[in-house]
Amino acid sequence: MNLSTQLLHILGSGASAYISARNMRDLQTRPNTLAALQMAESGSVPFLEALSARATAEGDTWLAERLARHAADERRHGQIFAQALKQLNKQLIDFKSIPQTTNDGTPDERRRSPFFEAYFSDYSSEALKPENIDWTVFFASTYILELDASKDFVRMANALPDTDPASVNLKKGILSVAHDETGHAAYLREAMERQLSSAAVDEAIDIWRTRKVNALIAMVGGFLQKGGKMPALTQEGMPDRAEVALELVAAN
Ligand SMILES: [Fe+2]
Ligand SMILES: [Fe+2]
Repeated sequence: MNLSTQLLHILGSGASAYISARNMRDLQTRPNTLAALQMAESGSVPFLEALSARATAEGDTWLAERLARHAADERRHGQIFAQALKQLNKQLIDFKSIPQTTNDGTPDERRRSPFFEAYFSDYSSEALKPENIDWTVFFASTYILELDASKDFVRMANALPDTDPASVNLKKGILSVAHDETGHAAYLREAMERQLSSAAVDEAIDIWRTRKVNALIAMVGGFLQKGGKMPALTQEGMPDRAEVALELVAAN
C-alpha cells in the first residue's frame, strides 16, 4: 500500500466510522442503520455455511469448524439487529414487495451494493460463489472487512446514549458483535498463515486493504451524487413477516 492509499485509508475509515456512529446515535437514522446491518450480517450466513461444507469436502476440518462457528455468529448478529429494530417498532422491508428493477430497467438500488461491486471489481459473480472462490481471496477480503467491522462496532456502541433501556441493550449487543468480529479476523489471518508464506500473507492483506480504500471512495462518491440519501430499508413492524424478509435477503 503506497502512502496516498495509506492516508486515504485513515481518512476513509475515520469518515465511515463517524458516519456509522452518528447514524446509530440519531433515532431518525438508527432504524435504517440497523436494517442495513441486519441484512449484511444475516446475508453472509448461507455463504459461510456453503464454504464450511466445501472445507469439509476438501478434508480441512480445522477450517470447516471455524467457518461453521463463523456462520452461527453472523446469524446471531443478524438477530441482535433484528431485535433492536423490533424494539423501535420497525422491521426490514419485505424484499418480495420491491420490484427487481426500476422503470428504466436498472436493478433496484436496495438490491445492489456499490461498495461490494467496487470491492470485488474484476471478479465475476461465478468466481465469487462459495464452490469456486479462491481461498486466499476469501480469507484476505473477509479478514479486512472483519477487522474493520470490529473497530466500527465498538465506535457505534460507544456512540449510543446510556439514557434509555433500548439503547443500553443495543450497546451490549453491539459490543458482543465487535468481540466476535475480532475473533473472525484472527482465524482468517491464521487460515492465510497456514497456507502462505508470511510475505504472501502481507501481500494479500495489502491488496485487499487497497481495494477497500478504493471501494469506500466509490461508495462515498455514489452517496454524495444522490445528495446523501440512503435507500429506505425499513417498514413499520409486522413481526410475522420479518422472518420472510430475512430468508429472502439470505437467499439473495
Ligand atoms: Fe458479524
Ligand atoms: Fe464477522
